[in-house]
Amino acid sequence: MLSISKKEFLFWRKKQLTKGGDYQSFNVLIDCVGGISSSKQNLLSINPEGNLYLKKNLEYLGSIWENHLLSSTPIQYLCGFTFWRDLKLQVTDKVLIPRPETELIIDIVLKIFGKKSQKLLFAELGTGSGAISIALVLACPLWIGIATDIDQDALKVAYKNYKKYSNFSNLRFSCGHWWEPFEIYKGKLDLAISNPPYIPKDTYEKLPVEVKNFEPKIALLGGEDGLKHIREIIQKAPLYLKEKGWLILENHFDQGGKIKQILIKNSFTSVEIVKDLSGVGRFTIGRYK
Ligand SMILES: C[S@@+](CC[C@H](N)C(=O)[O-])C[C@H]1O[C@@H](n2cnc3c(N)ncnc32)[C@H](O)[C@@H]1O
Repeated sequence: MLSISKKEFLFWRKKQLTKGGDYQSFNVLIDCVGGISSSKQNLLSINPEGNLYLKKNLEYLGSIWENHLLSSTPIQYLCGFTFWRDLKLQVTDKVLIPRPETELIIDIVLKIFGKKSQKLLFAELGTGSGAISIALVLACPLWIGIATDIDQDALKVAYKNYKKYSNFSNLRFSCGHWWEPFEIYKGKLDLAISNPPYIPKDTYEKLPVEVKNFEPKIALLGGEDGLKHIREIIQKAPLYLKEKGWLILENHFDQGGKIKQILIKNSFTSVEIVKDLSGVGRFTIGRYK
């Protein structure tokens, strides 16, 4: 630990932020690498007297910030971590950086099932860093989850993240194409969740550099109209869900209406578009019969 006066740190922070970048990314750097939590950072300006303790020196932190600004590499990949809900998750370039808007999936699920329901079996298709499944099994230790991904490297990251937070074995991991790993769970799932790749091809080509050049294409691209994977997931879901089982999907801002129709066509009921905190119809949910 390196001791530095708070005033010196605040002066240095101001200088770094004038070079560019956003405050949130800077907070991630100082928290993950420097060891000063966001809440502690916020308190610095209120009480700038005395010293603070950093895990790495300012020169090292500054070099990461410079790299982030020059190369557009997301700060989370440079630090190797991101914050999501109350979790600090490892991320590598094999996984999508879990987004704040996805955090709401957990609230949607807990609203439907309540925390106390027992022996619930859920599937997450395309788990990436494991964020959704890990948050669910931590909130509901009696639930059993199966988290899958097409990418074995992503699953390794998800498994590491799970083991950081839990000694239980209520979350299993399996590699394969969408429903493929669920052969033995046919008709047994109470709930299936997916935040699949849903970006339409044209939109993908125009994504900001920091997304397109660094985040896995396989995690983003949803075919010509963005609905390629969502269609497949919905069409096969009735084979794997229990009667009255729920399917919860995240989608692009303008896909809710179309997904609603696909769900209805495939015998789903209670179909609803759920808005995120910005008022965007970010999730489409339904119940199999
Ligand atoms: C949008 S990311 C979501 C990751 C994570 N669930 C989240 O919300 O941050 C989509 C994930 O689906 C995975 N994926 C893509 N194609 C797949 C397929 N055919 N079968 C299973 N998983 C797939 C990707 O590897 C990626 O991890």
